[in-house]
Amino acid sequence: MRARYRPRPLSRFHHLPVRVRLTVAFAGVMAAVLAGAGVFLFVQVRSDLDAQIDAALRLQAANVVKLVAQGSPRTLSSTGGGLAQLYGTGGDLLLSTRAARGSRLLTRSEAASAFDSRQLIEQHTLASGLARVLALPAATATGGRVVVAVAASLRLRDHEIDNLQRLLLIAGPFALVLASIAGYELAGAALRSVEGMRAQAERITEHDLSERLTVPEADDEVAALARTLNAVLDRLEATVVRERRVVSDASHELRTPLTTLRAEIDLALIGDREQPELRAALESASEEVRRMSRLADDLLVLARADQGRLPLNPRPLEVADVLERAAGHARAAAEVRGRSIVVSALAVRARVRADPDRTAQAIDNLITNALRYGRGTIILTARNGGDMVELHVTDEGPGFQDSFLERAFERFARGEGAALSGQGSGLGLSLVQAVALAHGGRAHARNRPEGGADVWIALPRDGPARSGGP
Ligand SMILES: Nc1ncnc2c1ncn2[C@@H]1O[C@H](COP(=O)(O)OP(=O)(O)O)[C@@H](O)[C@H]1O
Ligand SMILES: [Mg+2]
Repeated sequence: MRARYRPRPLSRFHHLPVRVRLTVAFAGVMAAVLAGAGVFLFVQVRSDLDAQIDAALRLQAANVVKLVAQGSPRTLSSTGGGLAQLYGTGGDLLLSTRAARGSRLLTRSEAASAFDSRQLIEQHTLASGLARVLALPAATATGGRVVVAVAASLRLRDHEIDNLQRLLLIAGPFALVLASIAGYELAGAALRSVEGMRAQAERITEHDLSERLTVPEADDEVAALARTLNAVLDRLEATVVRERRVVSDASHELRTPLTTLRAEIDLALIGDREQPELRAALESASEEVRRMSRLADDLLVLARADQGRLPLNPRPLEVADVLERAAGHARAAAEVRGRSIVVSALAVRARVRADPDRTAQAIDNLITNALRYGRGTIILTARNGGDMVELHVTDEGPGFQDSFLERAFERFARGEGAALSGQGSGLGLSLVQAVALAHGGRAHARNRPEGGADVWIALPRDGPARSGGP
């Protein structure tokens, strides 16, 4: 079974127009993406800049270490370029480049630990501002040990980072606003075609069911929706047309007997009628009333079947019994017409699970038709049909007109000759089919190759379902 759609209580957000909801959701996601991208960019750029600075510091340190090893550290103070210092044991500052004079690049304890291993101080406050410092041990030409410290100012790096931050803070919201406006417009454009379709659908259901929605050229969801709605309209129109035809056919069918009835009664009321004349008029009137009540009964059964409310009382039935009993009912009527009715010796012995009264009514209808429209012997038989048992009624008459065969089960459908004869209303086979369908079975009609009609209903076999054929 398909899950039933159960509406949930809606939040306030869900009462906003779709267009606004889409835009808000879109803007939310966009803001998260932009913020994420901004943070990522910021972190990435900063670590790139730090890596560049570190590479420069390593190079600078290597140069100083080389000078120290060559025994010419004094040249350091005269070169002037860059920030570099030498520390002796105990953290004493031994030597500074000109740019580094005035402040220590390392504290005493930092200098002490740099004797053991290279140290990187990410931020060190100098008189000239923040700097990044690299310190490492080095050997002098005379075999002594010193610490080399080199530093790079962070001013440029911080400046660049500040710039980037400002850019992100301005461009991000700007991009967000632009994207939201674009999203709002886009949602509007998408919904315009839906709104157009809704308006069109409203006009169609109000006025003329034969109109259809225009399917947009693009092969998208909206076009699919239009096609689906058109298919729904097709079915709706077909149903409405069929219902209207049934109603008008039914009124028509009722009018004829009513007219006859009125004429009979009016005639009987004129002057002084003799007893036998009155009796004949009443008999004729009674016949018309019976005809009308049969029609009303049939229509009621069909209406119930349509709503799936045909009361059924299914129970196991021997098909042989069903056929024998039906033949018994009809035998007298057949003999009057000089016809015979037999149950075939080939009928299979089987049981169906069906409502006895409805089944009998269906078979009676088929026999009445065979008597009315067929000729020769009427044969009742039963055959296996998989999980079903088929109850057949055949005759030796002209059979159905080929063009009529596929409409034979429609309501009020009558073959050409039958419509003229004034007998029957065209509901007989509809009823047969309704009964079969209500049992989960089917009804079929065909012309036998050897001549005559073969009409049958297939009813579910009683007991556990059998697989395979006869
Ligand atoms: N055994 C048959 N042989 C030939 N035509 C048949 C036979 N049974 C039914 N028909 C055709 O099918 C039509 C519909 O049958 P049915 O629904 O029973 O309506 P009705 O009997 O009221 O005319 C009949 O009018 C007739 O033309
Ligand atoms: Mg009939």
